[in-house]
Order: sequence, then C-alpha cells, then structure tokens
Amino acid sequence: MSRSMITGGAGMVGRQLASLLLARGEQVDILDIVPPERLPADIRDRVTLVHGNLSSWSEVMEAVARSRPDTIYHIAALMPPNSEQNHAASWEINVNGTMRVLEAARLFEVGTVVYSSTTATFASELPEPVPNDHPQFPEMLYGVTKVCSERLGEYYHRRYSVNFRGVRFLSILGPGRVPGSGWSAYTSLVIEECAKGNPYVIKVNEELRLRFIYVKDAALSLMKLADADEERLTTRMYNLDGFSASTRELVDGVLTYMPDAQISWQFDPEYQHVMDTRYGVIQHRMDDALARQDWNWQTSYSREDAIRDFIEDVRSGRT
Ligand SMILES: NC(=O)c1ccc[n+]([C@@H]2O[C@H](COP(=O)([O-])OP(=O)(O)OC[C@H]3O[C@@H](n4cnc5c(N)ncnc54)[C@H](O)[C@@H]3O)[C@@H](O)[C@H]2O)c1
Repeated sequence: MSRSMITGGAGMVGRQLASLLLARGEQVDILDIVPPERLPADIRDRVTLVHGNLSSWSEVMEAVARSRPDTIYHIAALMPPNSEQNHAASWEINVNGTMRVLEAARLFEVGTVVYSSTTATFASELPEPVPNDHPQFPEMLYGVTKVCSERLGEYYHRRYSVNFRGVRFLSILGPGRVPGSGWSAYTSLVIEECAKGNPYVIKVNEELRLRFIYVKDAALSLMKLADADEERLTTRMYNLDGFSASTRELVDGVLTYMPDAQISWQFDPEYQHVMDTRYGVIQHRMDDALARQDWNWQTSYSREDAIRDFIEDVRSGRT
C-alpha cells in the first residue's frame, strides 16, 4: 500500500487531496500545526495527523523518518496578507520549510515530492496567455518565496535526483478557506458564508475578473502529477489554468442556488487597489499546454459546476 505525507494537509487543498488519496486506498499522514479537530470529520479518523512545524528541522526530519512516505505533497505555506506582514515567518516557513522537506526527502529516499506553487510568482504585466517559462518577477514576498522553492526543488532534482515536480495554481475556489489565506479569499468566503446562512460583505467592484481553479481540480492535479510518467515530463514546474469569473458572476451564481443570500457591497478602494496591482497576476490566463501534453491534464469543473458543487458540499457538511 502506498503511503503519502501531506504538509499542510489540514488546509483547503490538503484535505481534498487527503480524501482523494484515501479513496484509492493510500495511507495518508498529515504534517500540520493544527489540532485534530480542525480536520474535517470524514477524514479525521482515517489519516495520521503528525503535529509538526515546517520551521523546525527536527520536527520535519522526525516526521519523514517515521512516516517513510513514497510521496510527499508539500503544500503548507504562509499566504498573503500574512506572508507580507511577517517577512521572517514567511521566509522561514515558505523557503526554509521547503529546504527541510527536500533534505528529508533526500536523506530518507522519498520517491516523489510534489510542490504547490502559485501564478503569483509572475509579475502583473504579462502576455496572454502566460507561457510556462515566462520570467518570474513576483510583486509580493509570497511569490518570491515560491520562486525560491521552485528553484530549490529543481536544484535537489538536478543535484541529488530528488523526484521534485510541481504546479502553479491560480486563485483556488473552494470551501475551507480562512480569512487571511490570500487577498482573493473573499471569492470563496462569499459562497461558503452564504451556504451557511451567514451574511457577507464584498469590498471590491462587480467587474473585477479573476481566474480560478476549483479546489477539487487543484487536489486532483497534484495526484495526477505525482503519478505522471517521468519519461514524459519536459519540465519540473507546470502552469495550470482554470475558469474566469467576475465578482458579479460569482454573486449571481450564489443567488441562482440561494436567492435569499444576504450579500452586500461596501467598496474599499484600498482592497481594490491590491487586487488590481499586487494581485493583478490572477487576472491573466495561464498557458497550461505543457501540463496537458506531458501528463494529460484537464480540469473537470467549470464556473457553474464549481459553484454548485461548493454549495452542495458546505450544505451537506462535507467540508
Ligand atoms: N488558496 C489559493 O488560492 C492558492 C493559490 C495559489 C497557490 N496556493 C498554494 O496552494 C497551497 C495550499 O493552499 P491552501 O489554500 O490549501 O492553504 P491553507 O492556508 O488552507 O492551508 C495551509 C495549511 O498549512 C498549514 N501550515 C501553515 N504553516 C505551517 C507550518 N509552519 N508548519 C506546518 N503546517 C503549516 C496550515 O495549518 C494549513 O492547514 C499553498 O502552498 C499555497 O501557497 C494557494
């Protein structure tokens, strides 16, 4: 039976990935800093939660030494705005944490390390679509830490044959997103809060159009990349794309299923400015041709599918 370790496995993507891996019979260890009750009920008793912090060499080494996973999905990270407010923590968790995971993978001969990067590794002024190998000059420290991790992973692959591979996600839409986990978190929170019967206030304009990948597609991409045939990989890092939605389209999607949803608008020019500048990158389409070609990647969820599935999962308590 294969064994996988997911760093940050209690988070939005990690919990979906854990479900997918469990469904195909894998043993799953989650390395995270949260208490067990933060794991969704449907996976809590089926995974091993290893309480460990990426900031600690001994905790990461010990976790990997005990688990001896075939694959590590390294997806824990500090995201904006938190990453931009605490530079030291951002570097420690996102860059040094990745170094610790890669060292552990090297020393304990882990078969594959799959990494979740971000399209925020690119600048805001970009060609359309953004090529896989476009130069990376991030607007935020978050993006800088992710570029560093991509290059570290590639270095460990070249120098030590660690089987590192990764994807760059757009903004991820899905349940389980916490305020503070990205400036674009409002796009998920408006759906989740309304599905729970709570009111929600939006601070950006109706026209703001971002590109998204649904969280179940995001989790599936990590599993598919882990499974991909090494011979067919032409790079170690892959752009992914998804669907586009304006704020108005997201809200209309919510109102289709929940006509009584209490959504109000309270425009905040500063928030809008951040979305248009530092977050401008997620308004761009990514060229994901290499992912399609090398490991037959394609998304399953359109905007409408994603909103419907999201609401159903929240209402049925499957999050
Ligand atoms: N959410 C998005 O829109 C988005 C977009 C692009 C890329 N990504 C990337 O995808 C990955 C997953 O994102 P997510 O939305 O699931 O994040 P999340 O914030 O929901 O989950 C991150 C998890 O990492 C854990 N964690 C944080 N610091 C840790 C530490 N020091 N040691 C151990 N665990 C720690 C958290 O407790 C949490 O469970 C991240 O690498 C992120 O950079 C996310």
